[in-house]
Amino acid sequence: MSIPLPSYERWGSLAGKRVLVRVDFNTPVAEIDGQLEVTDDFRIRATLPLFEELLAKGATVVACTHFGRPDGQVVEKYSVAPVRRRLAQLCPDVELLENLRFNPGEESNDPVFGAALVAGFDYYINEAFSASHREHASIMIPPTLLPSAAGPNLQREVTTLTSILEAPARPFVAIVGGAKVKDKLGIVKVLSHKADQVIVGGGMAYTFEVTQGRSIGSSLFDASYLEVCGELMGEGKIVIPCDARGLREGVPFGSGGDEPVLDWGENIPDGHQGLDIGPASAAMFSAIIANAATILWNGPMGVFEDPRFSAGTEAVARAVAASSAVSVIGGGDSVSAIQGYGLEDQVSFVSTGGGASLEFVELGDLPGIAALRESQWNQ
Ligand code: 3PG
Ligand code: MG
Repeated sequence: MSIPLPSYERWGSLAGKRVLVRVDFNTPVAEIDGQLEVTDDFRIRATLPLFEELLAKGATVVACTHFGRPDGQVVEKYSVAPVRRRLAQLCPDVELLENLRFNPGEESNDPVFGAALVAGFDYYINEAFSASHREHASIMIPPTLLPSAAGPNLQREVTTLTSILEAPARPFVAIVGGAKVKDKLGIVKVLSHKADQVIVGGGMAYTFEVTQGRSIGSSLFDASYLEVCGELMGEGKIVIPCDARGLREGVPFGSGGDEPVLDWGENIPDGHQGLDIGPASAAMFSAIIANAATILWNGPMGVFEDPRFSAGTEAVARAVAASSAVSVIGGGDSVSAIQGYGLEDQVSFVSTGGGASLEFVELGDLPGIAALRESQWNQ
């Protein structure tokens, strides 16, 4: 993966040329004054430098994206209309096609749909790192039909992730969180070979805790991963929380409430559930992070959207920001956490990819990136 991806710079002037840019404008929206509006335009703003550069070179620029999961049907609430409105405010000269996933050919990687998509275009650019783990038509087919290139953000994502995985400054500390062991086990395995220490927090940590004979009450737990979590613990690089904060079992959480918040040490009593790491874990993790020369963070330490259980994630975010290490944040939740605390300028790189960042770390490549590299138009 150290081979540079094909760049659009080699095309020179684009006067009179039509360029199709695959973006990922799958952004959160909410109803505001009776109309869906984009509530986080990070992914749109991240694409503006490319659009401006292409327009300055004389190109006609058309962008295309998926938006939600309409399953191959035209579903009004998945129209890109709100994204178009936001884009029109930020960059009025770029046209945005309607949701690619309104056509079943997108997800089935249909060559006929892919060919129709690129008809009339001279060039294709993939600037959708966060969708490049999907073998979908708009990602896979254009590089087989047109001169194609990697957009600058996609190139940066690949270069940054590759360099920290292949030649990290040490100590390399990875922090992995999130609810489910199932979703993060692959990355924990890879990182426990590449990193010097792997901090595990969030709901997924409880399964690791059980392997150490600890009680976790009714916290999240997946028995089918007990054995492999135990083996990973045995390799000696994984650091798990030493205390927890949570609620009585069955009490609702996620958006605050009046129920008393409880703190425990290593063991959570029956009838209770851990929802965040406790203060001792936050201090221990922060000390490890402070000593790192490279940091990769993916996933929150608790149910951080509930302010009662955000302290662990905030402590990690602040420790990462305070560090002078090369720091890379991936995964939608950790990115919104670091942005929520206003710390995104204090980390080296914020990945636009959630699932894609995970899969890239796990596999070292993504189908959409391979498609660009292998395109015969680029030989
Ligand atoms: C994302 O938001 O994670 C990407 O846009 C991918 O979306 P998908 O999981 O629906 O393919
Ligand atoms: Mg920093």
